[in-house]
Amino acid sequence: MKTIVIANWKMNPATFREARKLFEATKKIADSAKSIAIVVAPPALYMRELRGAYMGARISFAAQNACFELGGAHTGGVSLAQIKDARVQYVLVGHAERRAAGETNEDTGKKVAAALAAGLVPIFCVGETKRSGSGEHFLFVKDQLRAGFASVPPAKASRVIVAYEPVWAIGSDAAMSPRDMHEMAIFIRKTVVEVCGESGHKVQILYGGAADETNAADMLRDGDVRGLLVGRASQDAGRFAALIRALGDA
Ligand code: PGA
Repeated sequence: MKTIVIANWKMNPATFREARKLFEATKKIADSAKSIAIVVAPPALYMRELRGAYMGARISFAAQNACFELGGAHTGGVSLAQIKDARVQYVLVGHAERRAAGETNEDTGKKVAAALAAGLVPIFCVGETKRSGSGEHFLFVKDQLRAGFASVPPAKASRVIVAYEPVWAIGSDAAMSPRDMHEMAIFIRKTVVEVCGESGHKVQILYGGAADETNAADMLRDGDVRGLLVGRASQDAGRFAALIRALGDA
């Protein structure tokens, strides 16, 4: 199975012209990395045009957020049907920055289920805000997982991708250690199996939070993950190329 690398551009860049330039560079990187599935998550406003102009098969697209409602009076919202109509396959659910802006565990559960029902692959983000020696972070992540998978039919559990992103690592200088990720990956799988049954063993897990060219290969080799959710290092073509090259050696 291919390694998955998600390029989360967040609310960048400021102009469509720059977005097109970054996408062109990402396209070249993807063309040279046959064993890696690259998924670009641009701002919603750029999505349709970038997607529409892309004729290749190497890159897939993800929306950064979506509403779970089918349509109607939700000013500023983007629906799953609209995302699907733009030929986008993936949608991020519960990113830490959405949770910080008020998204609840209950919301994420509705979004994960609605995304599956719409035929999209949810990339369901979980992760604790802080860690202490007492292991409370496991309970925190467990609650997030339980809520997110609450309405997922057992047969569809393995379609959900779980992106574990400790909030304290997002935007910071240092990623979590692969050893700690490995421990968390085992815990995530165990919890998904508790909620969804045996198919939970097959859930795919990504790591995110300061993932870059210096730590990507080690994380893939020792972290028990299928891939990475990359913020800053995906928004700079040079760094993203270096990251993808580093994975070639993993
Ligand atoms: P970062 O962001 O790679 O810039 O830490 C990761 C994320 O928020 O998805």
